[in-house]
Amino acid sequence: MTSPGKFFITTAIDYTNAAPHIGHAYEKVLADTLARYHRLKGDPTYYLTGVDQHGTKVKQAAEKEGIAPREFADRVTAKFLSLWETLGISRDGWASTTDLRHIRAVQSILQSLYDKGELYKARHEGFYSVRQEQFLTEKERGPDGNFGPEWGEVVRIEEENWYFKLASHRDWLLGFLQSHGDFVTPAFRRSELVNAVEKIGGDLCISRPKERLSWGIEIPFDPGFVTYVWFDALINYISFAGYPACGDGSLPDFATLWPCDAHVIGKDILVPAHGIYWPIMLHAMGFADDQMPRLLVHGWWNIGGAKMSKSLGNSVDPAVLADKYGPDALRYYLLRDIATGQDADFSEERLRIRYNSELANDTGNLLNRTLNMAARYRGGKLRRLPASDPAGATLDESACRVAGEYVAAMDAFQPQAALESVAHLVSEANGYVETSAPWKLAKDPAASDRLDAVLYRLAETLRLVGVLLLPALPRAAEGLFGQLCWTPPADMVLHDLVKSVLPDGHTLGAPVPLFPRIEMQEIIP
Ligand code: MSP
Repeated sequence: MTSPGKFFITTAIDYTNAAPHIGHAYEKVLADTLARYHRLKGDPTYYLTGVDQHGTKVKQAAEKEGIAPREFADRVTAKFLSLWETLGISRDGWASTTDLRHIRAVQSILQSLYDKGELYKARHEGFYSVRQEQFLTEKERGPDGNFGPEWGEVVRIEEENWYFKLASHRDWLLGFLQSHGDFVTPAFRRSELVNAVEKIGGDLCISRPKERLSWGIEIPFDPGFVTYVWFDALINYISFAGYPACGDGSLPDFATLWPCDAHVIGKDILVPAHGIYWPIMLHAMGFADDQMPRLLVHGWWNIGGAKMSKSLGNSVDPAVLADKYGPDALRYYLLRDIATGQDADFSEERLRIRYNSELANDTGNLLNRTLNMAARYRGGKLRRLPASDPAGATLDESACRVAGEYVAAMDAFQPQAALESVAHLVSEANGYVETSAPWKLAKDPAASDRLDAVLYRLAETLRLVGVLLLPALPRAAEGLFGQLCWTPPADMVLHDLVKSVLPDGHTLGAPVPLFPRIEMQEIIP
């Protein structure tokens, strides 16, 4: 499915009915790191993210504040954009569903599905969840016969709407899932999806009457209705990738980009939206099986094992954390303390511990002592000598092994494991400083070459650490390179950067604390 040398990644577009929280930040940082990794590998990469601005929830939130939905959505959108700026999210495209190009794409897709006979109008009476914006069926009732609190306010309504013939594609989807084991990562989510597909009972209601909801995209062949928010939002993945071509050259070339290598989404929106509606929508539009995207499903950040939510008052504001600890500390924690696909518990204390131990104490210390020793013993100047001691050769081997582990982990969408390997390399390098004891070598004229070899080895290891940290911590990696007085050549890709490159006679810079320790007493009142 993946075209060689191309990487197209998207994240779920965030609802603009509330402010961004730590779950949103995690998803963007994860995708950004994967995108940066692929750029570093030399793959042409496109990272698309954005905001989901229509729907009942946005309308209700705006009404509460007494402002128009557009004004409300614009205000929340600005908060997301500012956070992505702070966190260094390197998006190539921005999908906002009120963008005219998207509206036109949704309408043209609706029209062509209508022309193909995939849509029909019908009257339906039933229970409707205002929070989830969907009609409920008997399946959704709890054991006590009531609809659970997850559905929020449930009202009985009877209305005429447009339906998409979802159920008629059920067998195709089952067959597709059978023959395309890589559609969903991690693989353990597949059985959950297959079970849900087997239970598809009816078609999908894709409209809302305008008298009930006007904040949406008008159905082109029936102006009394707007498009259901999920049907509108899912289309962002192709509309902002240039489908159908908008003609003004402002969007990418669809044929080059598509299919998407990873739609990065949380586990809550796999079923039914991304795992059922989306592939069936694409199939009905005429996309072939080898033109289906792949889903990368991440887990959730919880608090004390419980769901994070504004109403529970336990929601964590990423902008506050980035301000308090710095964007790098937050990025590192969000990547390092959760395995992609699994859930994790958010803890500010763990953020401080991870940062202090692996970045401040280990990486920062390695950089600081290497530059200090090079300055003191050699005026900062390196001699390119091969490791002449067994410990140096072992460190070289570890560096080589870690680079391989790192690539394997990143290719498997697991930055946590990749960063763990880097942390091991740093602690091995710190161990090498202890065993080779440059301060002793400096006193022995016969050990002069050995001292040069040790210092070169340490500087090269640090350079490699910087390269491997680049996707996760772009700013810190640049700072590290600055202190090594080294600029990665623009045309060099990961493959070249993991080999020794510092030339004989290269002069290192002066140490500046790269990861200042977070002092616990300054933070905890
Ligand atoms: N607007 C829809 C997505 C439409 S995509 C065509 C939506 N928005 S959301 O704002 O509710 O969620 C955006 C993303 O954040 C989703 O992938 C969701 O899973 C993720 N997260 C929301 N809370 C989360 C956590 N607590 N932890 C990790 N990710 C979570 O769904």
